[in-house]
Amino acid sequence: MSKFLVMGKLYIQSYGCAMNFSDSEIVASILKKEGYSLTNDYQESDIILLNTCSIREKAEETIRKRLKNFNNLKINKPTLIIGVLGCMAERLKEKLLNEEKVVDIVAGPDSYRDLPNLIKKVKKYEEKSVNTILSLEETYENIEPVRINSNGITAFISIMRGCDNMCSFCVVPFTRGRERSRNPFSIVEEAKNLYYKGYKEITLLGQNVDSYKWSKETNNKKKLEKNNDINEIIHFSDLLEMTAKISPDLRVRFSTSHPKDITIDVLNVIKDYENVCNYIHLPAQSGNSRILKKMNRTYDREWYINKVKDIKTIVGSECGISSDFITGFCSETEEEHHDTLSLMDNVIYDYSYMFYYSERPGTLAQRKYNDDIPLEIKKRRLDEIIKKQNTHSLERNKLTVNNNYKVLVEGNSKKSIDFLKGRTSENKMVIFPKKGGVIGKYVDVKIKDCNSATLFGELC
Ligand code: SAH
Ligand code: SF4
Ligand code: F3S
Repeated sequence: MSKFLVMGKLYIQSYGCAMNFSDSEIVASILKKEGYSLTNDYQESDIILLNTCSIREKAEETIRKRLKNFNNLKINKPTLIIGVLGCMAERLKEKLLNEEKVVDIVAGPDSYRDLPNLIKKVKKYEEKSVNTILSLEETYENIEPVRINSNGITAFISIMRGCDNMCSFCVVPFTRGRERSRNPFSIVEEAKNLYYKGYKEITLLGQNVDSYKWSKETNNKKKLEKNNDINEIIHFSDLLEMTAKISPDLRVRFSTSHPKDITIDVLNVIKDYENVCNYIHLPAQSGNSRILKKMNRTYDREWYINKVKDIKTIVGSECGISSDFITGFCSETEEEHHDTLSLMDNVIYDYSYMFYYSERPGTLAQRKYNDDIPLEIKKRRLDEIIKKQNTHSLERNKLTVNNNYKVLVEGNSKKSIDFLKGRTSENKMVIFPKKGGVIGKYVDVKIKDCNSATLFGELC
C-alpha cells in the first residue's frame, strides 16, 4: 500500500563528476520506490537534494551559494526538506549542519539506502539527520537507476566505487572511501536492459576503471557459482569484453583510466571490438617527473609517454586521447611547468580538462607541502596550457576533414534546430544538417570543416 502513496515531490541537482550524476540516478530510484515523484522545478518540490562535489574549493563555494538561495524558499515553505549528499557531505559531516542552517540531511555516498529513514527522521521527529558511514562493500548493484540525466540513447553505468590511489592533491579517497568493484553480472545485466530499451551507448564509470577486480571469493558467491565458464578473477579487460559482446550496436565507453594501471589487454579489446570506442581519457596531471612523484601518481614522464606509444601502436594513431592537468602544484618551477607544455607537444591531445591547483583540507599535499605558488602564477600557467590545448584540439580535428565517420546521433544541435549532433567513436562532437528519423541511430557523416571543439559534416 505505502508503495503507491504519494510522498511528495523530489528535486535532485548534481554537481561534480559523472559518478555523482550516476549516483543521483540511484538515489532517484531508491526514493521513487518510497513513493516520491521527481520534479525538474525546485520551487514546487518538497525535498531538495544536492549531490555535491569537493574536488576544488570553487566547487564547494558554488554549492554553498546554491544553499543560500534556498533560505527564502524555506521561510515560505517550512516543511521543505533540504539534503546535502555526496562528497561535500562526506567531507564535512555534522559540521555542515552548523555551517549551513538551511540543511536538514547530510548523507555520504555510501548511505543512500538509508535516505528513506533519514527523511522520516526529519519529517516525524523534526530532527536533523546525518549518515556519513563509508562502506567496504556497498556498490548499489541491485538498484536499477532511474535515468534522470539521460537522453534515452547514452547512459552511465557505475562499475566500481571509491579510490585507493591517494594522489596527494586529491580529496576523493576521503570522500568516497575504499575502492570496491561491482559484480560484473549485475553490470552486464544493467547494460543489456539498457540495450533492450533502445540505448545505443554505455559509459562504464569508476575513478580508476583499470583497477577493477572482482572474484567470487570476495563478492556475491551465489550468482557466480551459477556461471561455470567464468575465470577466477575478472579484470577490467574481461568486463569490457563482456559488455562489448552484448551487441555490436551498443557502443561502450569507459572513464577514467589511470596511466599506471591501463593494460595491453584493455588496448587489445579496444582494437578487437569495433563497438568499444577509440577513446581513452588518460589524465597525466603534470609532464614533470619530480612533480608527478610529489603528486603520488606512481608513474613518471617516460612511463606515461610509453603508455601513449602503446595506445598509438595497438589502437592506432587516430585513437582519441584526453587528459587532466593541474598547474601550480606545490613548489612547481617554471621549468617544470614547461615540462607539462612539452608533454602536451609530445602527445598532441584531442582534449584536456585543465585546472589550477586548489589545496584541499586533509589531503597528503595539504599536510606535507606548502601551497606556495601564487594564484596569479597558477592562473597564468593555466592560461598557457589552455592555449596550447586549443591549438592541439584544432590540429587533431583538422585531420578528420574529408574523412567519413560513423556517428551516433544524440539529438538536436544546441545552436540550431536545423542541425543534429552526434559523436564519433573517438568522442568528437559532430554537427550536421538535419534529416528526420535518425536520432538514436548510427549514420555516416563526411567531415567538411571543424573548429577546435566541433566537427561539421554532411550525411553521406
Ligand atoms: N580519478 C581521476 C580523477 C578524478 S578528479 C584520475 O585519477 O585521473 C578529476 C580531476 O580533477 C583530476 O584528474 C585532477 O586533474 C583534478 N583535481 C583533483 N584534485 C584537484 C585539486 N586539489 N586541485 C585542482 N584540480 C584537482
Ligand atoms: Fe583522486 Fe588520484 Fe583517485 Fe583520481 S586516482 S580519484 S586523482 S586519488
Ligand atoms: Fe567531485 Fe566527488 Fe566526483 S569530489 S569529482 S563528485 S568523486
